[in-house]
Amino acid sequence: MSRYYLTTSIPYPSGEPHVGHSFEMITADAMARYRRLRGQDVFFLGGLDENSQRVSRSAREEGIEPQAYVDQAAVRFRTAWDLVGVEFDDFVRTTEPRHLQTVRAFYQRVFDSGDIYLGRYEGWYCVRCEAFYGDDELVDGCCPTHRVPPEWVEEDNYFFALSRYQEPLLELYEQRPDFVWPESRRNEMLGFLRQGLKDFSISRATGGWGLPLPNDPSHVIYVWFDALINYITGIGFGQPGGDDLFAQRWPADVHVVGKDIVRFHAIYWPAMLMAAGVEVPRQVCVHGWVNFAGEELSQSGGHVVRPAEVVERFGSDALRYFLLREVAYERDGDFTWEGMARRYQHDLGNDLGNLVLRSTSMLHRYLDGVAPELTNLTSQESELRAAEQTAWEVAAHQYENWRFHLALAAVWRYVTAVNQYIERTEPWRLARDDARQSRLRTVLAMLMDALPRIATMIRPAIPQTADAIEEQLGIVGRPAVWGDDGGVIEAGQQVPGGPPLFPRLDG
Ligand code: MSP
Repeated sequence: MSRYYLTTSIPYPSGEPHVGHSFEMITADAMARYRRLRGQDVFFLGGLDENSQRVSRSAREEGIEPQAYVDQAAVRFRTAWDLVGVEFDDFVRTTEPRHLQTVRAFYQRVFDSGDIYLGRYEGWYCVRCEAFYGDDELVDGCCPTHRVPPEWVEEDNYFFALSRYQEPLLELYEQRPDFVWPESRRNEMLGFLRQGLKDFSISRATGGWGLPLPNDPSHVIYVWFDALINYITGIGFGQPGGDDLFAQRWPADVHVVGKDIVRFHAIYWPAMLMAAGVEVPRQVCVHGWVNFAGEELSQSGGHVVRPAEVVERFGSDALRYFLLREVAYERDGDFTWEGMARRYQHDLGNDLGNLVLRSTSMLHRYLDGVAPELTNLTSQESELRAAEQTAWEVAAHQYENWRFHLALAAVWRYVTAVNQYIERTEPWRLARDDARQSRLRTVLAMLMDALPRIATMIRPAIPQTADAIEEQLGIVGRPAVWGDDGGVIEAGQQVPGGPPLFPRLDG
């Protein structure tokens, strides 16, 4: 069985997770679920970036200890991911002892390679993005991402000799054109690489919150150096008994990250791995940002939409569907309440929900809920089969390429085709005509044939709905496999049916 190891970035624990963060987790979760349906042995890792300076500042502002602060945050973040159906196989909190073990082992290997040295840092530091900036990178004297003035830092720091890796990285990009995806981000990184790389500081002499530097505990490890290592902590690197898991899982198939942190993943991290003599990941996959009605969704901008608010009004799958359907992965997208309501009502309620409701209700009304045999097929059924075939193929291709919006559009074309099949075959007329009972049975059998397939096609995106459909069809617990060849509901089987999947919302 082929293995697939994917990771999300690990957010900072300050504040509340918002819909923008959940985009990354939901898309990665949809990919993990899709790969499982394809029979792959998937390992899906998430985590929380708990050693940042921001943590100690926020904790101080709230008058609590940093550890208490991150413990509370970890509950908040994990609850938010549970709520939107994101199921990690493991979750690394960077304050965990196992992470410290991995960081120490990794650091030692980089240190032994001679790529770490003591130097002096003078420059700007933005605590919000935990990044160092040169004068030339500031915009009007402010951090280019957060538009706030950075702090001037002058201190002795340990450095990582990133500049030595310019050539090896260029070679990597040359040999593996899909190392960074999409291509626009690859080009951005290539441009950055070609300008030449500066060594970067991997410790802070300010002490305080963070992991101690193994060879000089008066320093704490720079948060990005420690955070990136989470990707190997989760699979046992440098931990007692962890070698087998690490050998099985590494290199990661994909690190999923947002557009603002590509440089850390596509340049710093592979260079660190090369220095440690560890293989680099197969791909860094970059998504755009979700804005709120055209404006940045941020704590500071005031537009914070929390996943919980959306789930409360529309349900978890509706949020997942909206984000996956509405936002083209590599571009920026927009969250609006109107758009959310529209997708809920049209796509989920009218198209999908009604299809399931009217199919199962007709089966109850005309055949006491007992599935008939699928025989006597006509060209109408062949046409529907062709639409189904196209949906499997197109959706597979698009899911594989992170184009969830196109995958779902393809599935919805099939949903529409099934709805049109009902309009054309008019089972309610057939039911009134004694001579056409056999045709009625074929049509209803065809619908019972289609619904389990739709459940599988939507499963990566909206798993609770897939479960609910299977429950209404009486096929709970069947092993769902992508592209299965039907016959899931057997003739003579009782189909329970159920309430509307996406009831109309008041107000
Ligand atoms: N802690 C670092 C990541 C370390 S990974 C070793 C960090 N944290 S973050 O909380 O600022 O961002 C976490 C992820 O959320 C990033 O991939 C970032 O791009 C993503 N997003 C933050 N706001 C977002 C939107 N509005 N929309 C989509 N993704 C967004 O960076």
